[in-house]
Amino acid sequence: MNPSSLPLIKEKVAGLPRYNAGLPEEYVRDHYQVGHIARLAGNENPFGVGRLAAAAASAAIAELGKYSDPESRRLRQALADRLGVESEAIVIGNGSEELIALLCRATVRGGERVVTVTPSFLLHEIYPAEQGAEVVTVPMRADFSFAVDEIVAAMGQGCRMLLLSTPANPVGSMLNGSELMRLARAAGPETLLVIDEAYYEYAREETDHPDALQLLAGGRAPFVLLRTFSKAYGLAGARVGYGIFSDPHLAGALDRLRTPFNINRIAQAAALAALDDSEHLNQSLAHNHRERQRLAAELAGRGYQVAPSTANFLFFALGRDSAEVAEGLLRQGVVVKPWRQPGYQQCIRVTVGSRQDNDLFLSALAAVMAAPN
Ligand SMILES: Cc1ncc(COP(=O)(O)O)c(C=O)c1O
Repeated sequence: MNPSSLPLIKEKVAGLPRYNAGLPEEYVRDHYQVGHIARLAGNENPFGVGRLAAAAASAAIAELGKYSDPESRRLRQALADRLGVESEAIVIGNGSEELIALLCRATVRGGERVVTVTPSFLLHEIYPAEQGAEVVTVPMRADFSFAVDEIVAAMGQGCRMLLLSTPANPVGSMLNGSELMRLARAAGPETLLVIDEAYYEYAREETDHPDALQLLAGGRAPFVLLRTFSKAYGLAGARVGYGIFSDPHLAGALDRLRTPFNINRIAQAAALAALDDSEHLNQSLAHNHRERQRLAAELAGRGYQVAPSTANFLFFALGRDSAEVAEGLLRQGVVVKPWRQPGYQQCIRVTVGSRQDNDLFLSALAAVMAAPN
């Protein structure tokens, strides 16, 4: 290895934490010599891609010789129609993670404060840090609900961006309407609210789930809601997310920053078709609801503290180092996400998978926890 390029790299980039994007299936298969692999680390939909999206993606292959629509017009219009907003208020990202990065590049200057929570989706910390922001992380409460008073206090000291997910990754709890509005009211005119609703479809049937778009549109704070086709729509590999912007100027700024053809043809076609596949979506949501309850009850029955989840994953405390337990699970072909942020290193996040994979996870966990550590 030749280290001569090291001095070229900006200090703030060299110092960034590395996002743990999980282990590829091939690695797990080769390294642990396992046949079946239960992929329960990435919050993917166990039903995978739906029939309509798969057909649309296949049809798009014939057109791959041509560039994609740089504006993703059909997809933006379809989303705008469903949401009752102008298509100028929608920006499509190569996954919603691209939009988080672009939002930080567009708005956060070095030294400015960005408030988020911990434990968190790590990109909510990495992308602001990349811009040189002071990232303030407010711990979730002991019962894994949002510490709204503390978040408001942290914002009160001047804040360029409040960036959090609800339902929250990794814990799964969500903000209710009054909590969301308290945060919106606490935001000054200089604060952008970025509400990451990657798990929106799973939570929207909950009785106290707030309609964030309606609530925030009635207020004064500039906001962006982020959603994705990666989770309930089963298109994680296609990389399509979208932002709903309160302000077309901000949407336009992201359009200038993104790469011109950021969403490929197959992805645009698949996402558009997935929007019409209510059967696939509804089956996915019903399965998730059933299996999440079953998994949560089983884990709680074993004495683990399980965070209340409205999403497609569960977060629970083991009382043992999560990396060791995850390693034991990997030997049985079960991939979960051991949490490594300080204060949560005895916690695991597990995706609600197929019934068979959930059973495999439960039996593997029992075996690992029974073994002496
Ligand atoms: C809270 C949250 N936001 C964003 C993402 C990124 O999703 P996408 O696949 O759309 O980039 C994830 C993925 O796990 C997530 O959990």
